[in-house]
Amino acid sequence: MVVSSYRPFLGDLPLRRRLESQAQLSPLPLSSSHHLFLPYILPFYYKLYSQHPGSRVVCWFGNLPMLVITKADDARCVLASDVKHMQRPVGSRRVFHRLMGHGLILAEGEDWHLQRSILRPAFFLEKLKGMVKDMATSALNMIHLWETHVSKGGHMEAVEVEVAQDLKNVAADILSHTMFGTSYVKGKSVFERQERLLQLITKNSLQLAAIPFFKYLPTSENRKMWAMDKQNNEELSEIIDLRKTTAVNTNTDTNSNFPYGTDLLGYVLSAMEEEGKLGKRGPRLTIQQVVDECKTFFFAGHETTAHLLAWTMVQLSLHQDWQEKARQEVFEVCGKQGTPKADDLNKLKLVGMILNETLRLYPILPELGRRKLHNDVRLDDGTVLPQGMGIVIACPFIHMDKDMWGADADEFRPERFAEGVSQACKNPSAFMPFGSGPRICIGQQFALMEAKVTVALILQHFSFRLSPSYRHAPVGPFSLSPKHGVHLLLEVL
Ligand code: HEM
Repeated sequence: MVVSSYRPFLGDLPLRRRLESQAQLSPLPLSSSHHLFLPYILPFYYKLYSQHPGSRVVCWFGNLPMLVITKADDARCVLASDVKHMQRPVGSRRVFHRLMGHGLILAEGEDWHLQRSILRPAFFLEKLKGMVKDMATSALNMIHLWETHVSKGGHMEAVEVEVAQDLKNVAADILSHTMFGTSYVKGKSVFERQERLLQLITKNSLQLAAIPFFKYLPTSENRKMWAMDKQNNEELSEIIDLRKTTAVNTNTDTNSNFPYGTDLLGYVLSAMEEEGKLGKRGPRLTIQQVVDECKTFFFAGHETTAHLLAWTMVQLSLHQDWQEKARQEVFEVCGKQGTPKADDLNKLKLVGMILNETLRLYPILPELGRRKLHNDVRLDDGTVLPQGMGIVIACPFIHMDKDMWGADADEFRPERFAEGVSQACKNPSAFMPFGSGPRICIGQQFALMEAKVTVALILQHFSFRLSPSYRHAPVGPFSLSPKHGVHLLLEVL
């Protein structure tokens, strides 16, 4: 194991920032190979591993030593170990606390166990299937919007549309509907405020991460953030109180197992009640915690899914053969006019393979960080990672590891997923766009359903290619987003 030399106070952070700004000065060349991808999106780790090939390298986040993991087996060992090891980096806790309170992502130990066990049933496949109709309705609204744009162009030729923002809107719309059902309008306004809050937090992220008391200073932006957060807490509490007192929701009459409704909020409230009965001491999850879970789902499930959709559109534009094959599959499964139904989604195999390959090349959360190990962790080769060591898993390195994926690892080849994830590479742990182990993404199925529905509807209605104005720039800081948007030329079919 190699430890990079320590620089006082901020450690390697300034160098990392500098390398990122240099690497990302201009867009990435657009080619079907992704060999320039790693030095572009994670230049600091790329440099470390180019200097020390074959070793494990420790760098410095401030004064915290962090092992940068770039191998599938090492990642699996760390992520499979006890959840008490799974502390988020302290800087990112400070940054995200305002957005998610004490929701699942930031929870630890017993608190995490309780929250995860209450929330898990809300994401069971059978329940998610009931949300497919809402997902399709929101996606169709976007399709109609795009049809209007194209019809303004006279239907004669392709019309340029920046689709990344529309995909973000549709993801927000889907979450508002599936989470709040009839309280959708109110929920949506909370989410819009959450988004503005995220923008302010992103702007202040360095100070929030590096300065322990920064979030308490009465700067004008902090005051804005406090006000938005307060309003969001109040409005979400109102939605929850209303649901609890009236227990009225879309399907309540027909589904007495879920008296609070058959949306995500309803399922969580029902599960809380069950938990309360089992514990015989009343529900142990408080209303404030449910408020925090709603904020967490929005934070974790909104941009992530929107970015997956955006990168899928880019890949399908670059690979017209796959676009056409996937469209034919959609026509076969759903017809030329039909809306995708829950039972159709499993049959959309090619669309699923395309989404997996997009997630492999564009892991939306490229870095999974853990503040420190609470106990020693033994890796497969016997190396022991000592208690107290920080960990960051650099997923793009694992997703493009030629030992795992073969010589074509940096190419878009969805066919590698034809026989499922387990056959796509030497070691299935090398595919981890949703993480792995006990803290694997709880919304994975939700995201994939939403993505399949939306992509299927787009393919059914439009053919598309990249506009000459598109500039390819996948960048962070939190999730891999298209920095300059995604400009497509759309044609109605
Ligand atoms: C393409 C879309 C998505 C991607 C790529 C993604 C990725 C991930 C990853 C990598 C993790 C693990 C983070 C870690 O180990 O540090 C995670 C956790 C999580 N995700 Fe997702 N996610 C997506 C969509 C969603 C959706 C739609 C929801 C909810 C509606 C959601 C809710 C969560 C939550 C609550 C956690 C924390 C789980 C825990 O700590 O127990 N995600 N996600």
